[in-house]
Amino acid sequence: MLSALTQAATAAVNWAVNPRPEHDPDDLAAAVRGKNVLVTGASYGVGAATARLLAQAGATVLLAARTEDRLATVAEEITATGGTAYCYPANLADPVAAEALAGTILAEHGHVDIVVSNAGKSIRRSVELQYDRFHDFERTIGVNYLGPVRMLLALLPSMRARGQGQIINVSTVGVRLTPAPRWGAYQASKGAFDTWLRGIAPEIAADGVAVSTFYPSVIHTRMSAPTPTLRQLPGLSSGEAAGVVARAIVTRERAIGPWWLGPAELGSVLLAGPVSWALGVLYRNSDDTASANGDATADTSHTNAER
Ligand SMILES: NC(=O)c1ccc[n+]([C@@H]2O[C@H](COP(=O)([O-])OP(=O)(O)OC[C@H]3O[C@@H](n4cnc5c(N)ncnc54)[C@H](OP(=O)(O)O)[C@@H]3O)[C@@H](O)[C@H]2O)c1
Repeated sequence: MLSALTQAATAAVNWAVNPRPEHDPDDLAAAVRGKNVLVTGASYGVGAATARLLAQAGATVLLAARTEDRLATVAEEITATGGTAYCYPANLADPVAAEALAGTILAEHGHVDIVVSNAGKSIRRSVELQYDRFHDFERTIGVNYLGPVRMLLALLPSMRARGQGQIINVSTVGVRLTPAPRWGAYQASKGAFDTWLRGIAPEIAADGVAVSTFYPSVIHTRMSAPTPTLRQLPGLSSGEAAGVVARAIVTRERAIGPWWLGPAELGSVLLAGPVSWALGVLYRNSDDTASANGDATADTSHTNAER
Protein backbone atom coordinates (compact mmCIF):
# COMPACT_ATOMS: atom_id res chain seq x y z
CA MET A 1 0.00 0.00 0.00
CA LEU A 2 2.78 2.39 1.04
CA SER A 3 4.81 1.58 -2.09
CA ALA A 4 1.75 2.14 -4.32
CA LEU A 5 1.23 5.53 -2.65
CA THR A 6 4.92 6.40 -3.05
CA GLN A 7 4.77 5.41 -6.74
CA ALA A 8 1.65 7.51 -7.28
CA ALA A 9 3.25 10.49 -5.52
CA THR A 10 6.44 10.13 -7.59
CA ALA A 11 4.41 9.94 -10.81
CA ALA A 12 2.45 13.06 -9.78
CA VAL A 13 5.63 15.02 -9.01
CA ASN A 14 7.20 13.87 -12.31
CA TRP A 15 4.11 14.98 -14.16
CA ALA A 16 4.21 18.37 -12.44
CA VAL A 17 7.88 19.25 -12.95
CA ASN A 18 8.77 17.80 -16.35
CA PRO A 19 7.82 18.80 -19.90
CA ARG A 20 5.02 16.77 -21.43
CA PRO A 21 6.00 14.12 -23.97
CA GLU A 22 2.50 14.04 -25.45
CA HIS A 23 2.14 14.02 -29.21
CA ASP A 24 -0.41 12.54 -31.55
CA PRO A 25 1.04 9.33 -33.08
CA ASP A 26 -0.66 10.14 -36.39
CA ASP A 27 0.97 13.58 -36.45
CA LEU A 28 4.34 11.99 -35.71
CA ALA A 29 3.87 9.46 -38.50
CA ALA A 30 2.94 12.28 -40.90
CA ALA A 31 6.06 14.20 -39.86
CA VAL A 32 8.61 11.36 -40.16
CA ARG A 33 7.23 8.66 -42.46
CA GLY A 34 9.78 7.90 -45.20
CA LYS A 35 12.19 10.53 -43.86
CA ASN A 36 15.87 10.01 -43.06
CA VAL A 37 16.39 10.81 -39.39
CA LEU A 38 19.91 10.82 -37.96
CA VAL A 39 19.97 10.16 -34.21
CA THR A 40 23.33 10.60 -32.51
CA GLY A 41 23.94 8.80 -29.23
CA ALA A 42 21.52 6.08 -30.37
CA SER A 43 23.25 3.24 -28.52
CA TYR A 44 21.80 4.01 -25.07
CA GLY A 45 19.27 6.08 -23.16
CA VAL A 46 17.38 8.89 -24.86
CA GLY A 47 18.93 8.27 -28.29
CA ALA A 48 18.03 4.56 -28.39
CA ALA A 49 14.48 5.28 -27.21
CA THR A 50 14.11 8.10 -29.77
CA ALA A 51 15.34 5.87 -32.60
CA ARG A 52 12.83 3.15 -31.64
CA LEU A 53 9.96 5.63 -31.42
CA LEU A 54 10.71 7.37 -34.72
CA ALA A 55 11.29 4.08 -36.57
CA GLN A 56 7.97 2.82 -35.25
CA ALA A 57 6.37 5.95 -36.74
CA GLY A 58 7.86 5.14 -40.16
CA ALA A 59 11.17 7.01 -40.23
CA THR A 60 14.36 5.51 -41.67
CA VAL A 61 16.63 5.94 -38.67
CA LEU A 62 20.38 6.39 -38.99
CA LEU A 63 21.98 5.42 -35.70
CA ALA A 64 25.30 6.93 -34.63
CA ALA A 65 27.41 6.31 -31.50
CA ARG A 66 30.66 4.55 -30.58
CA THR A 67 29.42 1.23 -29.20
CA GLU A 68 28.95 -0.91 -32.28
CA ASP A 69 27.27 -3.92 -30.66
CA ARG A 70 24.74 -1.71 -28.85
CA LEU A 71 23.90 0.08 -32.11
CA ALA A 72 23.43 -3.33 -33.76
CA THR A 73 21.10 -4.43 -30.95
CA VAL A 74 18.96 -1.27 -31.28
CA ALA A 75 18.86 -1.70 -35.07
CA GLU A 76 17.88 -5.38 -34.75
CA GLU A 77 15.06 -4.47 -32.35
CA ILE A 78 13.82 -1.91 -34.88
CA THR A 79 14.00 -4.18 -37.91
CA ALA A 80 12.38 -7.05 -35.97
CA THR A 81 9.29 -4.87 -35.59
CA GLY A 82 9.21 -3.86 -39.26
CA GLY A 83 11.23 -0.64 -39.02
CA THR A 84 14.25 0.51 -41.00
CA ALA A 85 17.55 1.31 -39.30
CA TYR A 86 21.19 1.68 -40.35
CA CYS A 87 24.18 1.75 -37.99
CA TYR A 88 27.02 4.26 -38.18
CA PRO A 89 29.62 3.63 -35.48
CA ALA A 90 31.55 6.86 -34.93
CA ASN A 91 33.35 8.79 -32.25
CA LEU A 92 31.80 12.25 -32.40
CA ALA A 93 34.51 13.67 -30.16
CA ASP A 94 36.83 13.26 -33.16
CA PRO A 95 35.98 16.06 -35.64
CA VAL A 96 37.43 14.09 -38.56
CA ALA A 97 35.18 11.13 -37.69
CA ALA A 98 32.20 13.48 -37.26
CA GLU A 99 32.70 14.92 -40.74
CA ALA A 100 33.26 11.44 -42.22
CA LEU A 101 30.02 10.26 -40.58
CA ALA A 102 28.07 12.97 -42.38
CA GLY A 103 29.85 12.21 -45.67
CA THR A 104 29.09 8.47 -45.46
CA ILE A 105 25.44 9.10 -44.65
CA LEU A 106 25.03 11.56 -47.54
CA ALA A 107 26.75 9.11 -49.91
CA GLU A 108 24.50 6.24 -48.83
CA HIS A 109 21.16 8.03 -48.31
CA GLY A 110 21.43 11.19 -50.40
CA HIS A 111 20.15 13.53 -47.71
CA VAL A 112 19.12 13.82 -44.08
CA ASP A 113 15.73 15.33 -43.21
CA ILE A 114 15.99 15.50 -39.43
CA VAL A 115 19.01 15.46 -37.12
CA VAL A 116 18.50 14.61 -33.46
CA SER A 117 21.75 15.84 -31.91
CA ASN A 118 21.61 13.85 -28.71
CA ALA A 119 25.02 12.24 -28.12
CA GLY A 120 26.56 13.66 -25.00
CA LYS A 121 29.05 13.20 -22.24
CA SER A 122 28.51 14.53 -18.74
CA ILE A 123 31.14 15.01 -16.10
CA ARG A 124 30.47 15.97 -12.49
CA ARG A 125 33.80 16.63 -10.82
CA SER A 126 35.27 19.39 -8.62
CA VAL A 127 37.87 21.51 -10.34
CA GLU A 128 40.43 20.53 -7.67
CA LEU A 129 40.22 16.98 -9.05
CA GLN A 130 40.72 18.26 -12.59
CA TYR A 131 44.09 20.02 -12.28
CA ASP A 132 45.70 17.08 -14.11
CA ARG A 133 42.64 16.21 -16.19
CA PHE A 134 42.59 18.62 -19.12
CA HIS A 135 41.13 15.71 -21.10
CA ASP A 136 37.85 16.17 -19.14
CA PHE A 137 37.49 19.48 -21.00
CA GLU A 138 38.68 18.11 -24.34
CA ARG A 139 36.26 15.19 -24.24
CA THR A 140 33.21 17.21 -23.26
CA ILE A 141 33.88 20.01 -25.75
CA GLY A 142 34.56 17.34 -28.40
CA VAL A 143 31.35 15.35 -28.16
CA ASN A 144 29.04 18.09 -26.87
CA TYR A 145 30.16 20.89 -29.19
CA LEU A 146 32.93 20.51 -31.79
CA GLY A 147 31.89 17.09 -33.15
CA PRO A 148 28.21 18.02 -33.68
CA VAL A 149 29.27 21.34 -35.24
CA ARG A 150 31.60 19.55 -37.67
CA MET A 151 28.86 17.05 -38.52
CA LEU A 152 26.26 19.78 -39.11
CA LEU A 153 28.62 21.87 -41.23
CA ALA A 154 28.72 18.88 -43.57
CA LEU A 155 24.95 18.24 -43.48
CA LEU A 156 23.60 21.80 -43.59
CA PRO A 157 24.39 22.61 -47.25
CA SER A 158 22.16 19.82 -48.58
CA MET A 159 19.44 20.49 -46.00
CA ARG A 160 19.34 24.17 -46.99
CA ALA A 161 19.52 23.39 -50.70
CA ARG A 162 16.50 21.10 -50.35
CA GLY A 163 14.64 23.87 -48.51
CA GLN A 164 13.57 21.69 -45.61
CA GLY A 165 14.84 20.05 -42.49
CA GLN A 166 15.00 20.16 -38.73
CA ILE A 167 17.71 19.96 -36.11
CA ILE A 168 16.74 18.96 -32.59
CA ASN A 169 19.29 19.60 -29.89
CA VAL A 170 19.00 17.61 -26.66
CA SER A 171 20.50 20.24 -24.38
CA THR A 172 20.08 20.68 -20.61
CA VAL A 173 18.29 23.11 -18.28
CA GLY A 174 21.75 23.94 -16.90
CA VAL A 175 22.69 26.08 -19.90
CA ARG A 176 19.92 28.53 -18.99
CA LEU A 177 20.67 28.72 -15.26
CA THR A 178 23.55 29.78 -13.01
CA PRO A 179 26.24 27.13 -13.67
CA ALA A 180 26.29 24.58 -10.86
CA PRO A 181 29.50 23.58 -9.03
CA ARG A 182 31.26 20.42 -10.31
CA TRP A 183 29.52 20.61 -13.71
CA GLY A 184 31.73 23.31 -15.28
CA ALA A 185 33.25 21.25 -18.12
CA TYR A 186 29.87 19.79 -19.08
CA GLN A 187 27.92 23.04 -18.82
CA ALA A 188 30.50 25.01 -20.81
CA SER A 189 30.40 22.51 -23.68
CA LYS A 190 26.61 22.15 -23.72
CA GLY A 191 26.29 25.94 -23.50
CA ALA A 192 28.65 26.40 -26.45
CA PHE A 193 26.56 24.17 -28.72
CA ASP A 194 23.28 25.69 -27.52
CA THR A 195 24.57 29.20 -28.24
CA TRP A 196 25.96 28.27 -31.67
CA LEU A 197 22.79 26.50 -32.76
CA ARG A 198 20.51 29.30 -31.56
CA GLY A 199 22.84 31.74 -33.30
CA ILE A 200 22.56 30.07 -36.70
CA ALA A 201 18.82 29.30 -36.33
CA PRO A 202 17.67 32.61 -37.88
CA GLU A 203 20.17 32.16 -40.74
CA ILE A 204 18.96 28.70 -41.73
CA ALA A 205 15.25 29.27 -41.00
CA ALA A 206 15.00 31.26 -44.23
CA ASP A 207 15.97 28.06 -46.09
CA GLY A 208 13.32 25.98 -44.34
CA VAL A 209 15.58 24.37 -41.72
CA ALA A 210 14.12 24.65 -38.20
CA VAL A 211 15.98 24.38 -34.92
CA SER A 212 14.29 23.01 -31.80
CA THR A 213 16.02 22.70 -28.44
CA PHE A 214 14.92 20.37 -25.68
CA TYR A 215 16.08 21.53 -22.23
CA PRO A 216 15.61 18.53 -19.89
CA SER A 217 16.36 18.56 -16.17
CA VAL A 218 16.86 14.95 -15.04
CA ILE A 219 16.45 11.92 -17.28
CA HIS A 220 16.94 8.57 -15.58
CA THR A 221 19.64 6.96 -17.76
CA ARG A 222 23.16 5.61 -17.24
CA MET A 223 24.32 9.25 -17.46
CA SER A 224 22.48 10.43 -14.35
CA ALA A 225 22.55 7.10 -12.46
CA PRO A 226 25.95 7.48 -10.75
CA THR A 227 24.97 10.80 -9.09
CA PRO A 228 22.96 9.94 -5.95
CA THR A 229 21.12 13.30 -5.83
CA LEU A 230 20.00 12.96 -9.45
CA ARG A 231 18.72 9.44 -8.75
CA GLN A 232 16.42 10.90 -6.07
CA LEU A 233 15.11 13.79 -8.16
CA PRO A 234 11.95 13.49 -10.24
CA GLY A 235 12.90 12.95 -13.86
CA LEU A 236 11.82 11.60 -17.20
CA SER A 237 12.41 8.04 -18.35
CA SER A 238 14.34 7.74 -21.61
CA GLY A 239 11.05 6.77 -23.31
CA GLU A 240 9.37 9.95 -22.02
CA ALA A 241 12.33 12.04 -23.15
CA ALA A 242 12.01 10.42 -26.60
CA GLY A 243 8.37 11.49 -26.51
CA VAL A 244 9.47 15.09 -25.95
CA VAL A 245 11.83 14.83 -28.96
CA ALA A 246 8.88 13.47 -30.98
CA ARG A 247 6.77 16.41 -29.81
CA ALA A 248 9.50 18.79 -31.01
CA ILE A 249 9.45 17.12 -34.43
CA VAL A 250 5.68 17.43 -34.69
CA THR A 251 5.33 21.00 -33.40
CA ARG A 252 8.73 22.39 -34.52
CA GLU A 253 8.72 24.42 -31.25
CA ARG A 254 11.81 26.58 -30.80
CA ALA A 255 12.35 25.44 -27.21
CA ILE A 256 10.85 22.82 -24.93
CA GLY A 257 11.66 22.60 -21.24
CA PRO A 258 9.96 22.26 -17.87
CA TRP A 259 7.43 25.01 -17.05
CA TRP A 260 9.64 26.30 -14.21
CA LEU A 261 12.68 26.91 -16.41
CA GLY A 262 11.66 30.42 -17.51
CA PRO A 263 11.03 31.69 -13.94
CA ALA A 264 14.21 29.97 -12.71
CA GLU A 265 16.21 31.57 -15.53
CA LEU A 266 14.84 34.98 -14.58
CA GLY A 267 15.59 34.27 -10.91
CA SER A 268 19.18 33.32 -11.70
CA VAL A 269 19.64 36.76 -13.28
CA LEU A 270 17.71 38.85 -10.74
CA LEU A 271 19.06 36.96 -7.71
CA ALA A 272 22.52 36.15 -9.09
CA GLY A 273 24.32 36.92 -5.79
CA PRO A 274 22.10 34.87 -3.45
CA VAL A 275 21.91 32.00 -5.97
CA SER A 276 25.72 31.86 -6.21
CA TRP A 277 25.99 31.93 -2.40
CA ALA A 278 23.44 29.09 -2.10
CA LEU A 279 25.32 27.01 -4.67
CA GLY A 280 28.51 27.51 -2.64
CA VAL A 281 26.75 26.21 0.49
CA LEU A 282 25.42 23.26 -1.51
CA TYR A 283 28.90 22.53 -2.84
CA ARG A 284 30.50 22.54 0.61
CA ASN A 285 27.83 20.14 1.88
CA SER A 286 28.12 17.59 -0.89
CA ASP A 287 30.84 15.31 -2.27
CA ASP A 288 32.37 14.08 -5.48
CA THR A 289 31.29 10.54 -6.31
CA ALA A 290 33.75 7.64 -6.13
CA SER A 291 33.98 7.53 -9.93
CA ALA A 292 34.71 11.26 -10.10
CA ASN A 293 37.51 10.59 -7.60
CA GLY A 294 38.92 8.05 -10.05
CA ASP A 295 37.93 4.94 -8.05
CA ALA A 296 38.40 2.09 -10.52
CA THR A 297 35.93 -0.07 -8.57
CA ALA A 298 33.16 2.50 -8.91
CA ASP A 299 30.32 2.13 -11.41
CA THR A 300 32.11 2.23 -14.75
CA SER A 301 28.93 2.33 -16.82
CA HIS A 302 29.06 6.06 -16.41
CA THR A 303 31.20 8.00 -18.83
CA ASN A 304 32.59 9.92 -15.81
CA ALA A 305 34.52 6.81 -14.92
CA GLU A 306 36.73 7.04 -18.03
CA ARG A 307 40.24 8.08 -17.05
N1 LIG B 1 20.45 11.98 -18.22
C1 LIG B 1 20.20 13.22 -17.81
O1 LIG B 1 19.82 13.47 -16.65
C2 LIG B 1 20.32 14.38 -18.79
C3 LIG B 1 19.92 15.64 -18.36
C4 LIG B 1 20.02 16.71 -19.23
C5 LIG B 1 20.49 16.52 -20.52
N2 LIG B 1 20.87 15.27 -20.92
C6 LIG B 1 21.38 15.10 -22.28
O2 LIG B 1 20.66 14.06 -22.90
C7 LIG B 1 21.45 13.48 -23.94
C8 LIG B 1 21.34 11.97 -23.89
O3 LIG B 1 21.93 11.50 -22.69
P1 LIG B 1 21.45 10.16 -21.94
O4 LIG B 1 20.93 10.58 -20.61
O5 LIG B 1 20.63 9.33 -22.84
O6 LIG B 1 22.87 9.51 -21.68
P2 LIG B 1 23.50 8.08 -22.09
O7 LIG B 1 22.51 7.01 -21.82
O8 LIG B 1 24.82 8.05 -21.43
O9 LIG B 1 23.66 8.21 -23.67
C9 LIG B 1 24.63 9.05 -24.22
C10 LIG B 1 24.77 8.67 -25.68
O10 LIG B 1 25.81 9.49 -26.26
C11 LIG B 1 26.73 8.65 -26.94
N3 LIG B 1 28.07 9.20 -26.93
C12 LIG B 1 28.80 9.58 -25.85
N4 LIG B 1 30.04 9.94 -26.24
C13 LIG B 1 30.07 9.79 -27.60
C14 LIG B 1 31.07 10.00 -28.58
N5 LIG B 1 32.29 10.43 -28.24
N6 LIG B 1 30.78 9.76 -29.87
C15 LIG B 1 29.55 9.31 -30.22
N7 LIG B 1 28.55 9.09 -29.34
C16 LIG B 1 28.82 9.33 -28.04
C17 LIG B 1 26.68 7.34 -26.16
O11 LIG B 1 27.08 6.25 -26.99
P3 LIG B 1 28.48 5.49 -26.94
O12 LIG B 1 28.94 5.48 -25.52
O13 LIG B 1 28.12 4.17 -27.52
O14 LIG B 1 29.36 6.29 -27.86
C18 LIG B 1 25.21 7.22 -25.84
O15 LIG B 1 24.51 6.64 -26.92
C19 LIG B 1 22.87 14.04 -23.74
O16 LIG B 1 23.14 15.02 -24.68
C20 LIG B 1 22.82 14.66 -22.35
O17 LIG B 1 23.72 15.74 -22.22
C21 LIG B 1 20.79 14.20 -20.08
